[in-house]
Amino acid sequence: MIVAIDGPAGAGKSTVARALAQRLGFRYLDTGAMYRALAWLALRDGIDPVDAAALGALARANAVELGVGGTVTIAGHDVTAEIRTAQVDAVVSAVSAHPPVRAVMRDRQRELSLVVDCVMEGRDIGTVVAPQAELKVYLVADPEERVRRRLAERPTADAAALLARDASDAERMQPALDAVRLDTTGLGIDQVVERIELLARERAA
Ligand code: DC
Repeated sequence: MIVAIDGPAGAGKSTVARALAQRLGFRYLDTGAMYRALAWLALRDGIDPVDAAALGALARANAVELGVGGTVTIAGHDVTAEIRTAQVDAVVSAVSAHPPVRAVMRDRQRELSLVVDCVMEGRDIGTVVAPQAELKVYLVADPEERVRRRLAERPTADAAALLARDASDAERMQPALDAVRLDTTGLGIDQVVERIELLARERAA
């Protein structure tokens, strides 16, 4: 079974998807981490974030490993912590926009999603990566709340940059027609997770 969780940055996707996966006994797959790892490698190697061909080749040559414990590895480096920095935030949207990059990531994400029951988090899971997902959830929250959550998570985060990234991701971030839209503004994590867990158990039955 695949549960797809899509939505903008700060809507609560990661926290909710991780907790939900634990409750359901499913694997948690963070597709944003895969794009972040590639952005990290592009920065390290001095590859221009607008160079679609070079980034496509970089993605093809360097598989991103998502460890069961939440670790993220690329090109032999554990980048779990390093992908959550302002430097990576600043280029990841541009890096992820290129069709050759998305084609590589989409194929890997599909492969991963087909071998285990999973909660898969991203922007285009319900629409492109796994349109067959049994449950699709599109999480949203007011911009002020999204910024507040991101700052609570990472005090050095840049609020304007978060909203700019959303604007830049918007094209790839359309909710699937059959997604359940859930506004998490003012809701606690447990409430959101419980609602989705209920839906997942209904769908599984
Ligand atoms: O979820 P996140 O903020 O860690 O994602 C980082 C970036 O990766 C985000 O700006 C858009 C991109 N992304 C994407 O294009 N498609 C996905 N399925 C997941 C993330």
